Amino acid sequence: MTKRTAFIAGNWKMNLDHQQAIALVQKLAWSLKDASHDYSTAEVTVFPGFTSIRSVQTLIDADGLELTLGAQDISRHDSGAYTGEVSGLALKKLDVKYVLIGHSERRQYHAEEDSVVQAKTAAAFKHGIIPVICVGETAEQLESEGAAAVPVRQTLAALAGHASLGEFVIAYEPVWAIGTGAVATPEVAASVAGKIRAAIAEAHGDDVAQATRILYGGSVKAANVAGFLQSSEVDGVLVGGASLDAEEFSGIARFQKHIVL
Ligand code: 13P
Repeated sequence: MTKRTAFIAGNWKMNLDHQQAIALVQKLAWSLKDASHDYSTAEVTVFPGFTSIRSVQTLIDADGLELTLGAQDISRHDSGAYTGEVSGLALKKLDVKYVLIGHSERRQYHAEEDSVVQAKTAAAFKHGIIPVICVGETAEQLESEGAAAVPVRQTLAALAGHASLGEFVIAYEPVWAIGTGAVATPEVAASVAGKIRAAIAEAHGDDVAQATRILYGGSVKAANVAGFLQSSEVDGVLVGGASLDAEEFSGIARFQKHIVL
């Protein structure tokens, strides 16, 4: 079976200016260094807002940090008359390794349908940026369809129609668990991740499914992260609010320490 490196991702959303971003990354890097964090067992990635990406990249570079960098969105276009958009070309130039695509906040507030998510996934593949494709059901959908149907459908839609698939990550984030303090149980998160993996295997082959990291997101904290990562189906977490606190996020990254063996 393929060994998948754990992935701990901090989505800062629309928080922090570039100076605050630098301060947070410095604190986070120190905290992880202090704890002798082994980045080869758990990759740690931050997703700052666009105005902070260059500053964070410069800091990572200058200090030789092992943190990796992500962006929160990507244009489906390469360049041209698309006011306000940011292209994969420009992100790649800033050593952006990952990009969030289809976050529920983009689906909800920016009308990002599955077709847009698919096109942005194609743009990420094209520019050698790893898409972190976000999927998840609303409270109403949970009620009417159960937990797995919507995330499985959204995953398959994002991955359909590409000439070939590059590396990608799936983040299962139930919409009702985002920023609410309500979390899916570790059992439900594991079960949905397993169903997503099975659907990927059926559509794209078992090798792709086994190599793909599937994350849980939604009100993750240092105090509850271990439960999610105990299942071999869940390979990491996508963290919002708690990633804005260096000590808390560092505690999440060091999740092995929380697991009671
Ligand atoms: P919270 O961790 O604040 O619930 O946010 C989750 C999220 O949306 C990460 O992308």
